[in-house]
Amino acid sequence: MSIHEPAPEAATDNSLVLREDGTYPERFEDPGHPEHHQRMGDVDPKANKKAERQVVFLFVISIVATIGFLVAYFAVPPGDTPESMRLSNLVLGLGLALSLLGIGLAGVHWAKALMNDHEKAEDRHEQRSSDQTRVEAIEVLKDGAADSAIGRRSLLQGTMIGALALFPLAIVVPIVGNVGGDWNVSKFGHTMWRKGTRLTTDPAGRPIKASDVTIGSVFHVIPDKLDEEEHPLDEKAKAVVLMVRLDPEDLKESEERKSWSYNGIVAYSKICTHVGCPVALYEQQTHHLLCPCHQSTFDVADGAKVVFGPAKRPLPQLPITVDDEGYLIAQSDFDEPVGPTFWERLTL
Ligand code: FES
Repeated sequence: MSIHEPAPEAATDNSLVLREDGTYPERFEDPGHPEHHQRMGDVDPKANKKAERQVVFLFVISIVATIGFLVAYFAVPPGDTPESMRLSNLVLGLGLALSLLGIGLAGVHWAKALMNDHEKAEDRHEQRSSDQTRVEAIEVLKDGAADSAIGRRSLLQGTMIGALALFPLAIVVPIVGNVGGDWNVSKFGHTMWRKGTRLTTDPAGRPIKASDVTIGSVFHVIPDKLDEEEHPLDEKAKAVVLMVRLDPEDLKESEERKSWSYNGIVAYSKICTHVGCPVALYEQQTHHLLCPCHQSTFDVADGAKVVFGPAKRPLPQLPITVDDEGYLIAQSDFDEPVGPTFWERLTL
């Protein structure tokens, strides 16, 4: 076939050719509505009543779960140990989940099993409805309210109102409970690192000799003698550090920070300056450190500056050196707050 000849489909497809009367031919046949099947509840009053009881049961689950959440909020506080925090999170999470799930499932089941099962078709129209359509829409809403039979089913009405009214307490009570709590943000301005504190492996707590750190290796680091009894968990969380050794030739260090590294070994806070996830994915070839939460990427060779992503400032650097025995130690605490940038803006 010559390239100048029209394609066969183009020659036979007249569906886009305007007719003389200004209309286009129909391209597809309207398949119409599938056959309507009646639900059990539409023909059997017992099934209808059973469906109502199921909806009530789901709302009751939500009510009980919300009450359980509120009780657990006071009875199972997070405490200072990982176990108690885990238990508190588990109980509160389950309470919230069941509370929302009960409301959601009840709404869906109500709509599917109890509301009137009319099928309605509406032709497409312009984006803005005509005034008459708007008036009709209000009527449809009113019909919907009548179809839901909320006025007649008092038990269902009561449990639904109870579930919806109670649920906001699961959000309000913890917020109100924290009013007057520990809002002292100055604690974000310092960590447990002190001059002479040894860098140790996380979680084993083994001191690290500079000679054991090979080029390209990465260490997850915590301060020496980290005792959770003495230091609460949030203090440990603030102090976590990622230590990397690079070829000293690759390091771009500012004049004032030249003494903060040791033989190419640099240490940075592991808490992302975006919203605080642990940055832990290090790519040796590029020296990039990636935060898995929103992909902020920091250049370890260049002061952990942000090269990509939503973080707005570099990771704070921990100045390090070695002691007489060759173990890596901190020269001081961080010189700026660790964690999300928000705290940097406050006077700490
Ligand atoms: S918390 Fe790290 S990128 Fe968002």
